[in-house]
Amino acid sequence: MSPAGTMEAWVIRPDRLGDPMQAMQLERIDVPDPGPGEVRVRVMAAGVNYNGVWAAAGLPVSIFRYTGYDFHIAGSDASGIVDAVGPGVTRWKEGDEVVIHCNQSCGECAECNGRDPMACTRQRIWAYESNWGSFAEHCLVQAQQLLPKPPRLTWEEAASYGLTYFTAYRMLVDRARIRPGDNVLVWGAGGGLGTFAVQLCALHGANAIAVVSSDDKVGLVRELGAAAVIDRREFALSDPDTGERNFDEIKRFGGAIRGLTGGVDCDVVFEHVGAATFFTSVFVCRTFGTVVICGATSGFQLDFDVRYLWMRQKSILGSHFANAYECQRANQLIAEGKIKPVLSRVFPFGECPVPHQMMKENQHVGKMVVLVGAEREGEGRRE
Ligand SMILES: NC(=O)c1ccc[n+]([C@@H]2O[C@H](COP(=O)([O-])OP(=O)(O)OC[C@H]3O[C@@H](n4cnc5c(N)ncnc54)[C@H](OP(=O)(O)O)[C@@H]3O)[C@@H](O)[C@H]2O)c1
Repeated sequence: MSPAGTMEAWVIRPDRLGDPMQAMQLERIDVPDPGPGEVRVRVMAAGVNYNGVWAAAGLPVSIFRYTGYDFHIAGSDASGIVDAVGPGVTRWKEGDEVVIHCNQSCGECAECNGRDPMACTRQRIWAYESNWGSFAEHCLVQAQQLLPKPPRLTWEEAASYGLTYFTAYRMLVDRARIRPGDNVLVWGAGGGLGTFAVQLCALHGANAIAVVSSDDKVGLVRELGAAAVIDRREFALSDPDTGERNFDEIKRFGGAIRGLTGGVDCDVVFEHVGAATFFTSVFVCRTFGTVVICGATSGFQLDFDVRYLWMRQKSILGSHFANAYECQRANQLIAEGKIKPVLSRVFPFGECPVPHQMMKENQHVGKMVVLVGAEREGEGRRE
């Protein structure tokens, strides 16, 4: 047994991969001890992300290939209190209140020290490509992953935004470089990434054209600052059974966008849906415009007509999470109240698989959080 004893953790094992309700089981596990450069955090609240759904399913590849462990604790977002620091950690101490960003890298190579840790050959997403995530009483992270918890937030608010918000920040601010007046098509605008993409557009003076599929999300994205909203249920972009695209409907969708922008196509398309939307994204993007993509919920094999890309000189940019500097800049906007967490539901620790299952079935809005050390909602605010 570890000198720090044992803890409760929601654990995924290789022999039960599948739906979150079956894959995630509550077990008692040794508390991990921090090694050099590492910090152990007592988790107060943990944010739910789509990567927990991927980890539970073992997709796109089984997590166990990366970690070498026979168990996996997911959870790439957390707020909490530092409870032990490993050798060599000098900037953080026991008792510090923190939020955690989910990028891990070696910290020693030229990419980490001069270019961008996202280019490190050992770059990985904490608790998706490594173990010891936040759906446990304690988690284990690299010291560089810590950010000060914004004092104005409760534990659950502070745990809700890191992964999706920091990803959206890099996509729009540093990759696509949105500018005032840009028209930005935001797929899934009422989801985890989309709610922050809409707010970032508003903050930068760009016009978010928010795509959603339910009435409650229409009101939400308007409140967050969307310039216009499209309900995708009004367009049959592809055949729901065969997946075959419907070009007339895609053209009508493009016409609807132009109707909202004063006759122009989108400067930037914010993509993460993948197979179901990518053809449309490339098509509706303006000449010299940019499609920026970080995920593919509906399928990884993307099919589009490249003539619309080259003839109109469009760009496709891949983007993946964010580096520590981007996380810190983005976190500051939260601390200043300029970007707000969008927390739709809070669950007790004992129900951790439930929000993951809801997420898999697209039954949620914004972000969901699981309370871990925090006993009830509303704790942790210091201002
Ligand atoms: N690379 C990275 O660093 C990174 C970071 C974060 C997330 N991701 C990935 O990005 C994806 C989205 O993450 P998220 O947290 O935003 O998930 P989310 O909260 O589930 O939101 C995704 C949204 O996509 C929309 N959507 C789903 N199926 C669709 C379809 N067939 N056509 C059009 N829209 C559809 C839904 O909105 P409506 O139904 O309202 O339209 C949903 O709200 C996931 O695959 C995740 O793994 C990658």
